[in-house]
Amino acid sequence: MKKIVILISGRGSNMQALLEAQLPCRIAAVISNRADAGGLAIAQEHGVPTAVVAHRDYPDRAAFDAALAQTIDGFKPDFVVLAGFMRILTEDFVKHYHGRLVNIHPSLLPAYGGLDTHARALHDGVRIHGCTVHFVTPDLDHGPVIIQAAVPVLCDDTEKSLAARVLHEEHRIYPQAVRWLCSNEIRLDKHGKVLFRSRKQSGHALIFPGLE
Ligand code: GAR
Repeated sequence: MKKIVILISGRGSNMQALLEAQLPCRIAAVISNRADAGGLAIAQEHGVPTAVVAHRDYPDRAAFDAALAQTIDGFKPDFVVLAGFMRILTEDFVKHYHGRLVNIHPSLLPAYGGLDTHARALHDGVRIHGCTVHFVTPDLDHGPVIIQAAVPVLCDDTEKSLAARVLHEEHRIYPQAVRWLCSNEIRLDKHGKVLFRSRKQSGHALIFPGLE
């Protein structure tokens, strides 16, 4: 059975969705860069080992990433799953986990990489927004896409209501992506494209506002 390590920085709701999804893998550890991350207690309640590698304890990004990689590798994971891990990772770190590092981002990438994705989508007046699970590459928020979910942006949406609608879908697509990874259903090929073992062709169009 494959082993994964999950990295968090905060409340850990995506991590919780993964812990509760009965995935075909062993969750070897949850690691946070912040000792006060709410998700650590949730992991412990689920009986998952936790560790903290505090970025503040290191002089620079390279030193932090080296310590983080050492802690991760101590658990010998097949895959490293970023679930609200809010640190920019160095190229060396990303390359070390090539094809084994995935992330969830609260937008339909390549639109709205970076922070404040919901506020920016509302400001631009887009009708459809969403979330993306992707392989991580050194190019921030631009790695090969595994799965995306789209949601409508309603007229009276606030940043909070839109974030909640997107988060609900994050909790659905991340377990699916990790299930595919851990059952060898997907992998990154040598050209950097996501390869599915069997063709995934089902899906639905989201048109918003709807046609009449
Ligand atoms: C999630 O919305 C996730 O997509 C986002 O942080 C939130 C973490 O929530 N990640 C990023 O913005 C990464 N660029 P959670 O701790 O409840 O899972």
